Amino acid sequence: LKRVFETARTNGGTPVKIDQVSGWVKNVRPLKTITFVEIQDGTTLQDLTVVLKQGAPSFKPSLGQSVTVLHPEIVQRKNQQFETLCMPENLKLIGPTVEYPVQNKQTSLPTLRKLPEFKHRTTYLSNLLRFRHKVESQLTKTLDGLDFTMVRPPILTSIDCEGAGEMFNLKQDHWDEIVNLTVSSQLHLEVLMMGLGRVYCLQPCFRAEKSDTNRHLCEFWMLEVEASFVDKNESLMDLVELMVKSVVLSLSETKDLPKYFPVGCNIDITSRWAKLLQDWKRITYTDAVEALLSSGVKFEHDLAWGKDLNSEHERWLCDHFGGPVFVTNYPRDCKAFYMKLRPDGTTVECFDLLFPEIGEIVGGSVREDDYDTLKQEIERRDMASNQLDWYLNLRKEGTVPHGGFGIGIERLVSYLYGNPNIRDSIPFHRTAGQIDL
Ligand code: 4AD
Ligand code: MG
Repeated sequence: LKRVFETARTNGGTPVKIDQVSGWVKNVRPLKTITFVEIQDGTTLQDLTVVLKQGAPSFKPSLGQSVTVLHPEIVQRKNQQFETLCMPENLKLIGPTVEYPVQNKQTSLPTLRKLPEFKHRTTYLSNLLRFRHKVESQLTKTLDGLDFTMVRPPILTSIDCEGAGEMFNLKQDHWDEIVNLTVSSQLHLEVLMMGLGRVYCLQPCFRAEKSDTNRHLCEFWMLEVEASFVDKNESLMDLVELMVKSVVLSLSETKDLPKYFPVGCNIDITSRWAKLLQDWKRITYTDAVEALLSSGVKFEHDLAWGKDLNSEHERWLCDHFGGPVFVTNYPRDCKAFYMKLRPDGTTVECFDLLFPEIGEIVGGSVREDDYDTLKQEIERRDMASNQLDWYLNLRKEGTVPHGGFGIGIERLVSYLYGNPNIRDSIPFHRTAGQIDL
C-alpha cells in the first residue's frame, strides 16, 4: 500500500490500477447504498478506503478479517484519503473472524494487556511499537556516528552487576555455579571497552522486581554505553542529552507524525518535546536534597542527606525545575559498588536523569578505575569478591578512566509517546505474577 499511495499521490487524481491489494479490515461503516471498508497492510499508517458498492457480497465485511481487493483503482481524494471503488464480487475474504476480541478504539489498555495475542492489532499499540522502533534506531544512529561499536554481551551470567540481589536464578544442573539472567551488561561492557574503546549494547535486562508500578518491568530493554578516557560526569551527561535530543529532533521530522498518536490524544506532545529541546538542569544530590527540604512540601517518604530519593522527590524536582533534571554525585551508599569515589570520600561521580511524571530514565557514572579503592569498596560491602576478581583485575592491566550509562528504553519511549504505563511500550510485558504468553 505504501508504494501504491506514493504513486497515487504524484498521479494528480489519475487512478493507480493494480492487480490486487490485501490487508486487514480496520473499520467498517455501512451506509444505505455503499459500505466503507478501511484496510491496512502494515506498510503505512494510512488506510485504504474501499468503497464497496451495494450488491450481494459473498461475506459480510467486519473488523479483523483479512481481505483482498481485486483490480483496485486507487486515487487520492481532496481530503488526502486514498480510496478505491469496489464491486462486491471483487472483495475476497482471506481470513474470516469468529469472535474477534478487539475493538480498535474502544478496548481499554488494561483489557488489551489481557489479550497479548491480539492487542497489537489496535492502532494505538501497533503505532507505539513503530514509534519505539524509531526511537531505538535514532539512539543507535547517534552512537554509530560517534564511533561506538555495538556489541553483544551475554544474557546468562554469574554476577549481580548492581549488587541489589534482584536476579532471576536459573536452577539448572548444567553449570557448577549459580547462573542468573543479567540485570545489566555494564561489567561485560567494561571488559569490551578495554579492547574497543567505545561500546554499546541494546538488549534485555531482567530484574526480580516486586514493584507493581507503571514504571517497573521484570524484563526491560536497556541501551548501555561504555566509553574509555572519561573521568567526569559532564561528558557522559552531554552524551545522554545529545542522544535524547537527537531522537526528539528526528521524530519531529517524521512524515505523517500525527498519525502515530491516538485520535483525541489529550497530551500535548508538541510542547512536551519542545521542552525536551531546552537546556536540562544539572544539580548535585546535596543541592537537590536541600531544595526538597526547604520546599515546605510534606513528602510521604522522609528525606535526609544520605537517603535515596523517592519517586515523589524526583517528580517534585522535575516540576520545580520545569523539565528534565540530572541529579549528580549521590552518597556512595545509595549507589552500586563500581562508581568512582569522589575526592570528598563520601559521594560518587554518578548521575541519574529524571524526567517529569516518570522519574528516572537513565543511570550512569564514572567507574572506579583504581584497584585498591575498588577492592576496599567490594570488601566494605561484603560482596563475594572471588566472583568479582576478574573485574577487579581489569584495574591492574592497562586501567583507564572510563564511564557509561544505561537508558531504560520503555521509560523513554513511554514519556516521548505520552503513554502512561511502560507495560504497553514493550510487546509482551513481564511483571511480578503471571506471564500470559
Ligand atoms: O539505574 P540502573 O539500575 O543502572 C544500571 O543498571 C547501570 N549498570 C547502567 C550502566 O551504567 N550501564 O538502570 C538504568 C535504567 C534506569 O534508569 C531505568 O530507566 C531502567 O534502566 N530500569 C528499568 N526499566 C524498567 N523496569 C525496571 N525494573 C527497571 N530498572 C531499571
Ligand atoms: Mg538507577
